[in-house]
Amino acid sequence: MMNVLEAIQNRRSIRRFTDTPVPRDMIETVLEAAIAAPSGKNRQPWQFVVITEQNKAEMLRLMDDGIAANPESAKWVQFTRDIMAQAPVNIFVFNPNGEYPWRSIPTKQRFQELVDIQSVGAAIENMILAAEGLGLGTLWICDVFENYDGFSAWIGNQKQLIAAVSLGYPDEHPDKRGRKGLDKVVTWM
Ligand SMILES: Cc1cc2nc3c(=O)[nH]c(=O)nc-3n(C[C@H](O)[C@H](O)[C@H](O)COP(=O)(O)O)c2cc1C
Repeated sequence: MMNVLEAIQNRRSIRRFTDTPVPRDMIETVLEAAIAAPSGKNRQPWQFVVITEQNKAEMLRLMDDGIAANPESAKWVQFTRDIMAQAPVNIFVFNPNGEYPWRSIPTKQRFQELVDIQSVGAAIENMILAAEGLGLGTLWICDVFENYDGFSAWIGNQKQLIAAVSLGYPDEHPDKRGRKGLDKVVTWM
């Protein structure tokens, strides 16, 4: 098993998967890692919906609706949609405490949402690093927002959609993508 720093440094966004199915117990190991994440007040504001082959066609149909409704971003969303089509598993992640994003909310609730969204982000990062440790590839996806209402109605009514994660055996080994150096992003004072 690789150590944490190796998993962090070796992980890449994977956009090409083999068609080998991912065993259910591996998916559960990844989800166990997700729920081990820290969360504000230990609220654990996360819900996961695992889309298997059985419901993939409906998921893709909803992506297609998002593409049709947003011609200005269609090219990129189509790119993501085709990756989701190839991945054997897609996991949708919701914040069950979250408000519908287009509704204004009181400041205190907004603060809580900021806390909860960070907590869900930590769970997603745990998932993708655990997957890396198991030899699986992942893609963290927010293009699902292009059909926010469609996905919410389908699987997450009254929950806040945060992201989807494609999961499968990688069929590519991309080089490390560029990063701004510490000199650009860190201030010591
Ligand atoms: C919050 C978030 C949303 C993302 N959404 C998408 C997406 O919808 N489609 C996609 O192809 N990549 C998506 N990515 C992947 C990023 O493009 C990728 O992480 C970045 O280019 C750095 O590459 P790396 O992950 O291989 O280091 C997303 C990543 C994050 C963290």
